[in-house]
Amino acid sequence: MKNIVLIGFMGTGKTSTGRLLANKIGYSFVDSDQKIEQANKMTIKEMFSRYGEVYFRQKECEMIKTLSMYHHAVISTGGGVVINQENIAALRNNGVIIALTASVDVILERTGRRNTRPLLEESNRRATIVNLLSGRQELYSQADFTVDTSEHSPIQVVEKIINYLQKAGALRA
Ligand code: S3P
Repeated sequence: MKNIVLIGFMGTGKTSTGRLLANKIGYSFVDSDQKIEQANKMTIKEMFSRYGEVYFRQKECEMIKTLSMYHHAVISTGGGVVINQENIAALRNNGVIIALTASVDVILERTGRRNTRPLLEESNRRATIVNLLSGRQELYSQADFTVDTSEHSPIQVVEKIINYLQKAGALRA
């Protein structure tokens, strides 16, 4: 059976939803950003500040190729994974793509809790979010299924995803 791949903007709940989903359906869970941090022995924030975004995107692309070869995994990706079509092609090859979305207000609130995202360090975080989102929305819409997480608890989001996967015949029996 295919992997379940979560894509979506920062703060849409990919990691928390992914972990819960994996638990519910008995798949392993893997978070692309965490894997990149482990493999390179530094945080994403450090990587951006030491080597820049282009370097991070290369590491991300390499990691996505590796993770795409997993089986029965829920794969949570970084918000910018969609920028590179190679990533989406690799993930789609062996995975069902689920996009999580959220309103700008919700993204602003959720991403304001921790200061770990180099792209949101600008002083006008709302404008940065709106700007990045407008360039990426179309890319996220390539997903097989989309769930707006703004007004749903993680468990509700997981139920919607499972419902979709069952109907699509994409879950391990
Ligand atoms: C990024 C999102 C982050 C992380 C990096 C870049 C982006 O992941 O990969 O800071 O370009 O949107 P999350 O979506 O898990 O925050």
